[in-house]
Amino acid sequence: MTATYPTSSDSSITANNAELQRFFTLLVQAMSDNSLQRLLLSKYQGPETDLQRLVVSPVKIKSALHWRFVWQYQTNHQTHNYPLPDAVNLLSELLPAQFKAGQLSTTASEVQLTISKKGKVLLNIKKTTNQQQADTRHNRQKQRFVEQSRPFLTALGVTDQQGQVIPAMANKWKQINKFIEVLQSAVRDSGLLQATQLHVADFGSGKAYLTFAMHDYFCHTLGLKAQITGVELRQNLVDLCNETAAGLNLAGLHFEQGDVKHFKARGINVMVALHACDIATDYAINMGIRTGAEIIMCSPCCHKEIRPQIRLPDVMAPMLVHGIHLGQEAEMVTDSLRALLLEAHGYQTKVFEFISLEHTSKNKMILATKRKKPLDNSEALQQIAAIKQFYGIKQQCLEQLLLS
Ligand SMILES: C[S@@+](CC[C@H](N)C(=O)[O-])C[C@H]1O[C@@H](n2cnc3c(N)ncnc32)[C@H](O)[C@@H]1O
Repeated sequence: MTATYPTSSDSSITANNAELQRFFTLLVQAMSDNSLQRLLLSKYQGPETDLQRLVVSPVKIKSALHWRFVWQYQTNHQTHNYPLPDAVNLLSELLPAQFKAGQLSTTASEVQLTISKKGKVLLNIKKTTNQQQADTRHNRQKQRFVEQSRPFLTALGVTDQQGQVIPAMANKWKQINKFIEVLQSAVRDSGLLQATQLHVADFGSGKAYLTFAMHDYFCHTLGLKAQITGVELRQNLVDLCNETAAGLNLAGLHFEQGDVKHFKARGINVMVALHACDIATDYAINMGIRTGAEIIMCSPCCHKEIRPQIRLPDVMAPMLVHGIHLGQEAEMVTDSLRALLLEAHGYQTKVFEFISLEHTSKNKMILATKRKKPLDNSEALQQIAAIKQFYGIKQQCLEQLLLS
């Protein structure tokens, strides 16, 4: 296909039309020889109020190559697929009239087009070593642990009606997938795949993205019979989540208003507390241990209990005089004590980064799976005592709860 660039309606940039023509030639060439990986148009200045960007990529539909246009609005995405001639015509109407920047990624180069406010056109071409052709499979997806087309994601506002992730929810989508990935490997290790009936409790369920995702994983992906209970302080969130679960006909998923500190539960197999505030995490772990949960998963939130108790050994005073360091030390001590207490109560425990800092600052996971045979716990108990003595700690909530 040859590239004919239409005369721009924007007279301020016609003088510089050669650079635009060059961009357009490279674009049409890449679309024609299937070397285009992605075209991103940004700096939108057209008539629609909340359109932000347009992403164009190849897609095979019934073995014919088409071009997928994903119109990215502030709160949703709209997708349309076009054959080559229609795609080229449409792009010639949009650039430069409505979009003032374009980034063309091909197997051979990265081409950046920018049009300044005064109409000056800049073209920057860089050779790349990425020789891979674009993946043109329809509905191609990264390896995900939750199916992007699941209705609960749309009901919770993670995806739009077309099943596309809403840009503002991209981090939540990553977090949901990472969480299910971690849960999946814990379920495999714990032997729960053989269970005929499962009970899962999620303390501090909040808006319940992860509670719904767990229900989907156990009931839809694994096909198990599971009872999932979200426990949440705020009644309005409980009502909202119950309405959403009922609207989706999700049997076995329900939410209760309650304070984890006073909640009574029995027979929990999987105890989850994600970002439950401060010592709410300790109450949740205590309940998990006491009910004999096979899996305990928590991602601690704020750590207020230990910090004021820490007595600084002299050599550490210049380090911990900085509030940020003292906070980090208190967090590490708190979560180490929690992990050791879990070990002392028959759990194999790992502490690791749940999801990288760029997605959320609450990024630590304590994952404990119940040992088939408990080990001698005297070493863990000695270590707990030594840490407390070293830092001058008199009281730790989980330890007290386990003693009571
Ligand atoms: C930061 S949100 C986390 C929500 C969800 N778990 C997540 O990770 O997306 C913490 C939730 O815990 C709830 N919460 C805090 N303390 C609680 C308690 N003692 N009992 C039950 N819920 C609690 C809060 O109301 C809030 O909705």
